[in-house]
Amino acid sequence: MKVTVSRKAHFNAAHRLFRKDWTASQNNEIFGKCANPHYHGHNYELIVHVKGPIDPQTGYVIDMKVLKDLIKEEVEERMDHKNLNEEVAEFSNLIPTAENIAVVIYDLLKPHFNENQELSVTLYETPRNYVSYSG
Ligand code: NI
Repeated sequence: MKVTVSRKAHFNAAHRLFRKDWTASQNNEIFGKCANPHYHGHNYELIVHVKGPIDPQTGYVIDMKVLKDLIKEEVEERMDHKNLNEEVAEFSNLIPTAENIAVVIYDLLKPHFNENQELSVTLYETPRNYVSYSG
């Protein structure tokens, strides 16, 4: 028997979607407003899901406090109120699309779980646009 435990979190961050090896017009054609050289922000909503067996001693799949603190340390402190392109090392050579941000978040969190705990992340870039990644 496996149960999924989920925790919501939130961070604000700025980004710019562009490739240095493309011209301004190529970047505008593909990334539109998101290529704005002056950056723009999003209110990101993150949902982290952990699926696993219930520990018979505690009744938990994972202690929510542990999950909360982990998201704070690995994600919020790294990304909240940051310019993702300029201030977050993981994006120095990676375009900070919602897809790539979700993969980076997954990779940051993954080492903290054991082999019985299946991790997946859902990242909302806007209330209507979201991506999911589970490895
Ligand atoms: Ni954007």
